[in-house]
Amino acid sequence: MTLSLSGIGLALPRRRVSNDELAQITGIDTTDEWIQTMTGISSRYMTTDETLIELAEQAATDALADAHIDPSEVDYIIAATMGCETSTPSLACHVAEHIGVQCPAVDLNAACVGFLYSLDYAAGLIERGRARNILIITGERMSAHVDWTDRRTCILFGDGAAAVVVRPGSALQYLNLQTRPDTEVINQYRRMCGNSPLSTPDEETPMHLEGQKVFKYAVSLMEQEITTALDTLQLQADQIDHYLIHQANRRIIDFAIERLGISPDKFPMNIDRYGNMSAVSIPALLHEMRKNNTIQPGDTLLMCAFGAGMTCGSSVIQWDPPTT
Ligand code: UT7
Repeated sequence: MTLSLSGIGLALPRRRVSNDELAQITGIDTTDEWIQTMTGISSRYMTTDETLIELAEQAATDALADAHIDPSEVDYIIAATMGCETSTPSLACHVAEHIGVQCPAVDLNAACVGFLYSLDYAAGLIERGRARNILIITGERMSAHVDWTDRRTCILFGDGAAAVVVRPGSALQYLNLQTRPDTEVINQYRRMCGNSPLSTPDEETPMHLEGQKVFKYAVSLMEQEITTALDTLQLQADQIDHYLIHQANRRIIDFAIERLGISPDKFPMNIDRYGNMSAVSIPALLHEMRKNNTIQPGDTLLMCAFGAGMTCGSSVIQWDPPTT
């Protein structure tokens, strides 16, 4: 079918923050033991003087080098993000300027499912003959969204950006997206800081997260997505080589592993070192698996993510790395 993944880049902030450091910096009442036991997280990267724009530019440059593609060959840029330092221009436009291209560049916001939504858009563009070298960027500065006095939420997230080059190919076997609308369980109100004479300024709030409700959604949506993907493709669970699951909480993944009865060895994790990086989680897993050779040509990958909205989706890809 439609597309193949062809080059991956990952950019992380310089500062790695352990659970103990986080407790010390914020003054919240927590412990390394609680965070590790309840989430599987031991550290995360947090921006200090870097911007999300810079991380995205770095990830994009690295992905293009990895794909052996000259920036001038990029003919569409999609950035999946809840927002960068500028509301406008988009993060995608910043990357276009950085790599020096004049192709279409647009942001989309599907929270933690942004990478899978971007793949769907890219597949459509390729099918229509609209683009051949699509640069997908996922990037989030979660540390700038969360409430650092809310110990249930602030310990969960990390910052970073990843980029993947997508080209025509036959890797994509399956892609399903859905929304189970619930706009209360995770939300954040952003202040529109213009000064309209006809309306009052909007309230601004940091991210609000109803952890237990999200947890339950995540476990059931993940189980449903994986089962539907396997049924649709008429595959047995063990015919999938790697399950790349959005890294929201290790316990969410463990629950699903138990309920689905699939070997935990098939579930690579990076939440221990990165926390929840939203849409960056899955491409970051891919990046790491490429680097340490745990992913081989011909391997079948099932990706599954869920996030604010509630958005949800899954995709099956046969790994066919770029020919150089
Ligand atoms: O990408 C999607 C984004 N979000 C998620 O995926 C989040 C999904 N939800 C979760 O991961 C979990 O709900 C959390 C890890 C956020 C919280 O775990 P929980 O099992 O739902 O804990 P809880 O909120 O019910 O809190 C249990 C206890 C409470 O103490 P009491 O009231 O029983 O005395 C909390 O006050 O744990 C306490 N607690 C903490 N203690 C130490 C909550 N946060 C902390 C903390 N350190 N950081």
